[in-house]
Amino acid sequence: MLITFEGLDGCGKSTQLHRLADRLQRLGYRVTIVREPGTTPLSERLRHLLLEGPTDIVPLAELFLFNAARAQLVETVLRPTLEAGTIVLCDRFADSTTAYQGYGRGLPLELVLTCNRIAVGEIEPTLTFFLDVPVELAIQRHGIPDRMERAGPAFFERVRQGYWEIARREPQRVIPIDGTRSPDAIHAEIWEHVRPHLPLEQAL
Ligand code: ADP
Ligand code: TYD
Repeated sequence: MLITFEGLDGCGKSTQLHRLADRLQRLGYRVTIVREPGTTPLSERLRHLLLEGPTDIVPLAELFLFNAARAQLVETVLRPTLEAGTIVLCDRFADSTTAYQGYGRGLPLELVLTCNRIAVGEIEPTLTFFLDVPVELAIQRHGIPDRMERAGPAFFERVRQGYWEIARREPQRVIPIDGTRSPDAIHAEIWEHVRPHLPLEQAL
């Protein structure tokens, strides 16, 4: 089972991902944590390029580079790990590309969705938590801005609205969560959504 965490930079994704991982592991589930872009050596190098590299990366190049990092992650980590029955928690996945390169940068959605589909193949998250926070709060929470984060508040407003569009289109998979509350309250809500999907036989 693949569970992904999405939202603006600083929305609290990583905090919630690790809390969920801890709880699942304490119950005896095998859990693997991955992040996008990154995790594999190639994907981490692409991450460095995308976040710390030249400022003049055009949107189309960005789309391909994020998906190149993703294709490597899917083939070498995600598919084999999921096939082994391990629960995978992913800090960002294809919805990030739809929200940031599609809605944020303004690339045609059909193009973005096609490119994402090529990179992910048949892999689909069972659940996606979209942690929603206002742009100002996200900016307050995150630290030194990287290349993406320097894009400015109007860009992040489009990304946030993009996530809401994705959530409206796929309400079965994408769960919007009010990310302005305490980490405990958010975790409790996430846990209620995850619990019914857990394979009972895997727990110790
Ligand atoms: P992301 O992975 O989305 O960038 P993080 O989980 O790293 O976000 O959180 C960004 C910052 O906000 C961290 O300093 C973290 O401790 C803090 N934070 C996370 N969740 C909350 C929350 N619910 N309320 C207040 N602060 C939070
Ligand atoms: P990340 O470390 O995940 O952000 P944070 O922890 O601050 O939320 O950084 C990834 C950055 O790359 C973030 O700004 C979102 C962006 N991104 C895209 O634009 N497209 C993508 O497909 C992905 C995976 C990330």
